[in-house]
This record gives sequence, C-alpha cells and structure tokens, in this order.
Amino acid sequence: MYHIHCLNNISKKGTDLLGDDYTLTEELGEATGILVRSAKMHDMEFPESLLAIGRAGAGVNNIPLDRCAEEGIVVFNAPGANSNAVKELVLCGMLLACRGIIGGIGWCRENADDENIGKSAEKAKKQFAGSEILGKTLGVIGLGAIGGKVANACVALGMDVYGYDPFLSEKAAASLDGAVQVVDDLARLYEVSDFISIHVPAVEGNIGMINADTIGQMKDGVVFLNFARDTLVDSDDMAAALESGKVRCYVTDFATPAVMKMQNAIVLPHLGASTAEAEENCAKMAASEIKDYIENGNITCSVNYPAVDMGPVEGHRVAVLAAADVDIDAVIAAIGDVQSSESAVRGGSAYILADTGSAADADAIAAIEGVRRVRVIA
Ligand code: MLT
Repeated sequence: MYHIHCLNNISKKGTDLLGDDYTLTEELGEATGILVRSAKMHDMEFPESLLAIGRAGAGVNNIPLDRCAEEGIVVFNAPGANSNAVKELVLCGMLLACRGIIGGIGWCRENADDENIGKSAEKAKKQFAGSEILGKTLGVIGLGAIGGKVANACVALGMDVYGYDPFLSEKAAASLDGAVQVVDDLARLYEVSDFISIHVPAVEGNIGMINADTIGQMKDGVVFLNFARDTLVDSDDMAAALESGKVRCYVTDFATPAVMKMQNAIVLPHLGASTAEAEENCAKMAASEIKDYIENGNITCSVNYPAVDMGPVEGHRVAVLAAADVDIDAVIAAIGDVQSSESAVRGGSAYILADTGSAADADAIAAIEGVRRVRVIA
C-alpha cells in the first residue's frame, strides 16, 4: 500500500485517480508521496519513505527542490493545468484597472437604501467612467502556458500584443497567435506597453526584476499586472511609482503587508488558480505524475529531475536517481542483465531507468559514487 499525505486541500478528482493501492494518510512520517498546493515546505524534514512530491499548480517556490533532489525525492508540478483560470483572472484584472467597477459596486452598496437609486446612479456614474482596452498595447513577460494564453486572448480583444520570453519553447511559440509580436529586448516591451502582465517563475534571476530601473523604462501611467509571484516586484519601488503616477495601477494576486499600504493597488488573495476546474485539473495531473513515477518509475514534468519515460513496467525495472556527474555506464553495468535502458541528465541530477531480465542487486548500484536512490520496482 502506498501512502499519500496531502498538505493542502487537493481535489478528490485527483486523489480518486490514484486507485486501490493508495491510501491517504495524516502521517507525514509514512508518506510515499505528498500532494501540495501552496503550503511552505522549506523547513520540513522528509521521511526516508518519501519518493515524490506532486505540486498541484505551476509555481514551485514553496518546495526545497535541490534538497529534495539530493534526498532522492522527485518533485513534479502541473504546468498548464490552471493556465486558463489564471488567464481569465488576468483579463478581469485589466478590466478592474481601467473601468470604475470597484468604485461603482461600492457606490451601489452604499446607496442600497435609496428608493431612487436608479436616478441617483445616473448622476453618480460620471465619477466611475473608465477607458477601454481595445487598441491599447499589452506587453506579456513570459510566454509559457499562462502568458501565451493571456497574449492570445488579448489579441482577440483587439489589443496590440508584445511578448518577451528568452526561453520560448517551440511548442509555446507555435501556439501563439501570429499577431503577437515577440521581441528579444525587454526594453522594447517596456517602451510600448500601456499594460504589462508578468508570467515568469520566482527563480533567482527574476526576483525583484520589476524595480525602479525597469519601471523607469515603462510608459507613464502604465498598468502593471502580477499574477505570477509577489517577489518579482520590488515593493518599495512599486509603491514609489504608484505614488508618483508613473504606474497608474498595480494589480496583484498577492496580498502582502507592503502592497496593502500602496495607493492604486488592486489586491487579490491569490485567486488565480482558484476555480473548480483548475483545482481538478491540477490535482489530476499531479496525482497521475506521482502514480506513474511510483509504479513505473516514469518521470514527466519534474522540476528537479530529467524526464525519462519507458511506459508501463512489464518485467523487472530498476530506477536510479543520481547526481549529474555519476558514471552512467558504471550504473548500467551494476544493474546487469539490462534489456533496455534510458537515461538523462538535467541541471545537477541524472536519472537512469532500465528494464532487466532478472531482479537487480540494489546495494551494488547504491555503492556507486553519486547514486542517491535505487528502486527495484519489480
Ligand atoms: C500556481 O503556481 O500554479 C498558481 O500560483 C496557483 C497556485 O499556487 O495554486
């Protein structure tokens, strides 16, 4: 029996996919797998039994990826599974920023007891007049699953759309609307955009990338949308830009004490992926990934080990997690009786999967320098 520990509410549609060989446990100490949304895991100690963590979402800044890799724990995420939900909220954020929706709703509530509210509204509404997004320019930083969808949707809404992504994959490029103008210089995107939406991960080089210097390159009165992560934006610099009017509105999905003090900020409590559909999609994807890894050793969509997929186990299979500089030939030789194998290296980690004619000696493989975990799956 495999034990799965859920650190957050994970849709039952996902956990139901695991099947009869799995049971949900409250005990972290016996977990084979963890399913998580946004619980912070950096200070957690992981048990020996833990093989995999499935993040039911895209961002993985709540998980200690390197430490997990060293401890032989594969971390999976669910890229794209909540991208439509986030895209829809970004569109909502743009409209909230340029129409008097929030003020207008507040006015109606405040005047709820007015018997002549219809008439009063006609007089009051001029204070809530806004502007349209049609014909305006949107810059999208990061054209992955979410950024690409935001870009395409805004083309459909009649905006001029610029995109920037130095890591643009062929697949992501192919799914972009032909009208999206991909630039290789962020300065160009800053220069032309009336709205800017950021969709990059909170990794080292991106933290604080929106700061006084980069804001200075943007148009006066720009609307900046952040549905990615709070740490991408320097709070002091954004507060100053809002105060001076350089940034007209900051729409953020991350409530922090600093943004709550900002004027002209529209703050949401991390609702981007909070739809029934996205929660289901993410839970299903994360659960399927950890199930396939636990049962077959296959890795797809991991963020700390390379992808290797040999399909379902038919006979004997050995899975070896190792440091990137491990001697892969020595590992294959130690596995012995190998009928077919696949291996890959990514970043600091290597993964070797082999189908064998007989059960392998795990101890001999584990003794090779750089090997982190050996599993004889069958
Ligand atoms: C993500 O990283 O997928 C989104 O921020 C949504 C979430 O954390 O649930």
